[in-house]
Amino acid sequence: MNLKPLGNTRRLFQNLWQIKTANDIGWNCQVTRFYSFSHRISGIQSIFHRSLILPTETRKECTNHFNGKYRHFQNSCFRQLHTSQTEVKQPVKATLQQEGKIVAIDWSNGGSSKFHSIWLRHNCQCGRCIQEGSGQRIFDISEISHELKVQSIEVKDTVVHFKWSDASNHEGEISLDYLQTNCYSQSSIKNRYSAVQINKLAKEIPVVNYIDVIQKKKELYRWLHLVNEYGICLMKDVPAEDKAHLALADLIGPVQETNYGKTFDVKSAPNPVNIAYSSVGLSLHMDLVYMESPPGLQLLHCLRFDDCVEGGESTYLDLFHIVEEFRKSHPKYFQILSTIPATFYKCHYDRENPFHLVYQKPHIVLNHHKQVVGLNWAPPFEGPLLVEEDDVLMYYEAYEELGKAIMNTDKMLTYGMKVGDLMVFNNHRILHGRNEFRLNGGIRHLQGCYIGIDDFKCKVQVLSNQVGDGQPPKHVGNQSWL
Ligand SMILES: [Fe+2]
Ligand SMILES: [Zn+2]
Repeated sequence: MNLKPLGNTRRLFQNLWQIKTANDIGWNCQVTRFYSFSHRISGIQSIFHRSLILPTETRKECTNHFNGKYRHFQNSCFRQLHTSQTEVKQPVKATLQQEGKIVAIDWSNGGSSKFHSIWLRHNCQCGRCIQEGSGQRIFDISEISHELKVQSIEVKDTVVHFKWSDASNHEGEISLDYLQTNCYSQSSIKNRYSAVQINKLAKEIPVVNYIDVIQKKKELYRWLHLVNEYGICLMKDVPAEDKAHLALADLIGPVQETNYGKTFDVKSAPNPVNIAYSSVGLSLHMDLVYMESPPGLQLLHCLRFDDCVEGGESTYLDLFHIVEEFRKSHPKYFQILSTIPATFYKCHYDRENPFHLVYQKPHIVLNHHKQVVGLNWAPPFEGPLLVEEDDVLMYYEAYEELGKAIMNTDKMLTYGMKVGDLMVFNNHRILHGRNEFRLNGGIRHLQGCYIGIDDFKCKVQVLSNQVGDGQPPKHVGNQSWL
């Protein structure tokens, strides 16, 4: 079977059929070639992704059989996520500029990309640079001068061949697909960044059902997708059994254990080690902000909530939205809170496992584009401010305003947990609290655990590629936009 670049839809589907046949009779390398080629077909690209390429089995087989080349395919998915879905480019011209310091590629749609010679060398995909199997780089770019040049280039099929001017006159190759995927032109970067911007604010908490989620992979994806889009999602009808939430956590990733243990029980107790284990109200906050990497998702499962218990409703607020509004309404305070660091603090020796944790960081964390990539808000765990004298009043003035913005918003969500409810929310994005309650002789018992934000983000992306639309996760407040 020989797949040639196709010029029309009919031939495209002929080849689709051939691919299907190849799948039936066993894989051959034409299938891999097809992936590269499929990205060159304008408009129909997304059909491929949804109908033919996305089935899990296909991906698995592809992974097993074509480890190295499959990377290109994965990158293609990544590109699809981060650039315009309909924009598919073919190279029309590849030229050397500035005596080989730059390679310029003009694409058929009129767009162009420029790559620095050192960047290309760093990304060489030849067998001497990338280990077959693991796909990992096996050379150190710092050993090569950043001033090296490309001596010659040649485009053959879907691959660009390079010869560099380093000591060994290294000859290598990079697929066009890879170059498109990782193009760092201004517009490509802009597309990537806008694709992951948080743009949904929950007016009410989205809901999924337990049975659906545990039975169908698509529903699992839908659940995590909602958590990613809105920062929060409620699951109904989870069996009210001890540790039942751990089986759900397993569907996402490993539990992130903390000093409070693998799971924790939010139940009133005399002399509690945490204010949460009393009956007082809790103002909106994030958990364990005094750590370098606070827990990502929090799962809270309601095991018991007796009718006689009064109050105790849970409260939630999407802090990303509040802070973006705050940036517009109070730019000066926004700037102050993104530079002067607060002290987050938990020192508690009167417990079995003494705590002594201190972490200094600003409430608002920005990246090099001044985008908000992290937020830290936890009034119960803010310790003594340790900054220059001149900064103290400024800090408190700005803090007071952000505090008011959080307290006075109409975007807070309130929900009274019922037995069998499981709330999951992103602790890097959604503030949580609860109203004061009176037990009146009854019991209020929630059980929970945490999951690392990396594991969550990873799962969303994998499921999106396997059973979803291939979109990237929205950024999750883990200090990184992408
Ligand atoms: Fe909390
Ligand atoms: Zn190489």
